[in-house]
Amino acid sequence: MGFWNKLLGTNSKEEQVMAKLNIGIILGSTREGRVSPQVGEWVKGIADKRGDANYEIVDIADYQLPFLGTTDGSEPGIAAWNQKLATLDGFVFIAQEYNHSITGALKNALDFAREAWNNKAAGIVSYGSAGGARAAEHLRGILGELMIADVRVHPTLSLFTDFENGTVFKPQAPHLSNNVNEMLDQVIAWSGALKTLR
Ligand SMILES: Cc1cc2nc3c(=O)[nH]c(=O)nc-3n(C[C@H](O)[C@H](O)[C@H](O)COP(=O)(O)O)c2cc1C
Repeated sequence: MGFWNKLLGTNSKEEQVMAKLNIGIILGSTREGRVSPQVGEWVKGIADKRGDANYEIVDIADYQLPFLGTTDGSEPGIAAWNQKLATLDGFVFIAQEYNHSITGALKNALDFAREAWNNKAAGIVSYGSAGGARAAEHLRGILGELMIADVRVHPTLSLFTDFENGTVFKPQAPHLSNNVNEMLDQVIAWSGALKTLR
């Protein structure tokens, strides 16, 4: 099969997966009872239908990162976090608004890597009472310092209309999945372009 693929210029499924960009959907909250996994799965469901990249959920909580600078840095989660980021070509941040900004957990996770973020692209999906807009704008400032190119299209979700009782995610507005696709179009284009710089 490999011979015929080479002769006909087609790639095996494995080769196609390898050639695709890897995009991490990063859950920005870690608290008990958080809603970010529901939002992340919704974005991944839309993304997987596109077939244009390898999309995966990346949960900060899995890495059990200590608070930056409070330990000797030998926790395995710190190295694992950097290794995971290094495998990714781009990101979608699931950003929730805490006190008009991003969560402490996301800021800590952002601070825990440097080169692994550089020259990559990102989109933001945010939520909060005002769509998480204030958190998203703070996040954009941080991404600039980390040399992550944040794309323009930014789906915003309302805690009042897109969640039942603020806990069960039920996206209402019909344009939301289109917004996610438009954001992903930009993330894929820029992630591919920036890969040539690394
Ligand atoms: C400490 C804290 C501060 C919050 N501050 C805001 C805020 O400033 N603006 C807002 O729209 N929502 C605010 N919220 C509501 C959160 O956006 C909401 O609880 C959301 O579900 C949090 O995301 P998570 O469930 O993934 O943790 C706050 C929630 C917490 C826990």
